[in-house]
Amino acid sequence: MPALRIEGYVIVSADGMLADAQNVMPDELKFEGDKRFFTDALDRAALIVHGGHSFEDQPNSPKRKRLILTRGVAALAPDPSNPKALLWNPAGASFDAACERAGVASGTVAVIGGPAVFDMFMDRYDTFWLSLAPRVRLPGGEPCFGGVPARTPQQILAGHGLKPGEAVMLDPDDGVTVTPWRRD
Ligand SMILES: NC(=O)c1ccc[n+]([C@@H]2O[C@H](COP(=O)([O-])OP(=O)(O)OC[C@H]3O[C@@H](n4cnc5c(N)ncnc54)[C@H](OP(=O)(O)O)[C@@H]3O)[C@@H](O)[C@H]2O)c1
Repeated sequence: MPALRIEGYVIVSADGMLADAQNVMPDELKFEGDKRFFTDALDRAALIVHGGHSFEDQPNSPKRKRLILTRGVAALAPDPSNPKALLWNPAGASFDAACERAGVASGTVAVIGGPAVFDMFMDRYDTFWLSLAPRVRLPGGEPCFGGVPARTPQQILAGHGLKPGEAVMLDPDDGVTVTPWRRD
């Protein structure tokens, strides 16, 4: 069994968007129960992975080790603005090399977006946690994965060998749920 578990996290609108038409995650997609779920999960993660425009903005964020994808470095480099972060260009260094340089050999890696970063790990997730806000629509927004909206996020995950578990209600007033999509 590999020592690192890879888990993905996103909240999407009913039409599969993770941000609005200005590529900003709007307040409409922010819910207390989902935020709590996400915060607790990241508190347990050994490493966070995201692109340069994504961040989780939580009180514990400065304590977390992270890889930030960018084409601004050749391979791997310290982030001058955050001693816990490494800048990573996958064209120059493998994920394994990035984890090793970050000093992470076991535990959970939390992949938190954006879409190109989610896509990169599509065949590697042990679990993808898909939160859904069924009453929010973001026309012209930023699709959560490549291939959306021609296909739904659920169809994309299924197409990569993931199967849905039972949905958990996070915010009953707004019908927001999270569904774990797991590989057998
Ligand atoms: N609803 C949610 O759960 C959720 C989750 C994640 C993000 N979001 C939202 O989505 C929006 C961000 O989307 P985004 O697509 O712009 O964000 P992003 O993936 O965070 O950032 C894109 C940047 O990451 C770097 N990058 C991405 N793929 C790379 C690759 N293969 N190799 C090297 N560098 C790579 C590039 O940085 P350089 O330009 O430095 O090269 C690129 O400009 C934000 O509004 C965020 O809040 C929402």
